[in-house]
Amino acid sequence: MRALVVYESSFGNTAEIARAVWEGMFSRMPDVALLDVAGAPHRVPPELDLLVVGGPTQAFGMSRPATRADAQAQSGVTPAESTTGVREWVASLERPERAVYAATFDTRIHSPHVPGSAAIGAMRALRRAGFQLTAEAECFWVMGTKGPLREGETERAHAWGVELTGLLSALHPTDPRAQADRQVHAPPTR
Ligand SMILES: Cc1cc2nc3c(=O)[nH]c(=O)nc-3n(C[C@H](O)[C@H](O)[C@H](O)COP(=O)(O)O)c2cc1C
Repeated sequence: MRALVVYESSFGNTAEIARAVWEGMFSRMPDVALLDVAGAPHRVPPELDLLVVGGPTQAFGMSRPATRADAQAQSGVTPAESTTGVREWVASLERPERAVYAATFDTRIHSPHVPGSAAIGAMRALRRAGFQLTAEAECFWVMGTKGPLREGETERAHAWGVELTGLLSALHPTDPRAQADRQVHAPPTR
């Protein structure tokens, strides 16, 4: 596995964005996996080049047990005794043994605009955990707490996924796997 997209989602919007990012990446690089944070490993695979992490902004940053319980209550779900979010998962990650690049995204309410971003929090946490950040933290907008996503956001997420694979090829210009990807997806020459 060369790339892994790990996401957290209370109402499904971040999950939808994560899938679109994964599809964008998969269109250029077949060796990419998509995992819910609840099932993500605490050690990244040894051959991993890029880790993409996304979650909803809750209470101005990455979710916490109390904000997730609040979201579960809003969904009419009995709050689970313990839940894992991006914050806890990144904190539990083993330090990578080699350079692994990382990028982060979040979903946030478009209006009214509130300061704070789970993506920026995750970016800082990943840097502390020994990952190398490749891109600016990216934000995708929802129209309200439970959604829906703002029109065009899934398409933007797909395009961002494609962009991330390009970045990876640029970071590893001599990697034969990146060259193979470019050959497979290069436009036909006349
Ligand atoms: C407890 C709670 C706190 C929230 N705090 C914020 C916030 O500080 N800023 C913001 O823009 N959105 C906030 N939201 C809205 C979430 O960002 C929104 O529910 C999320 O993007 C939806 O993604 P999801 O469907 O993947 O959970 C909050 C939502 C909940 C449930």
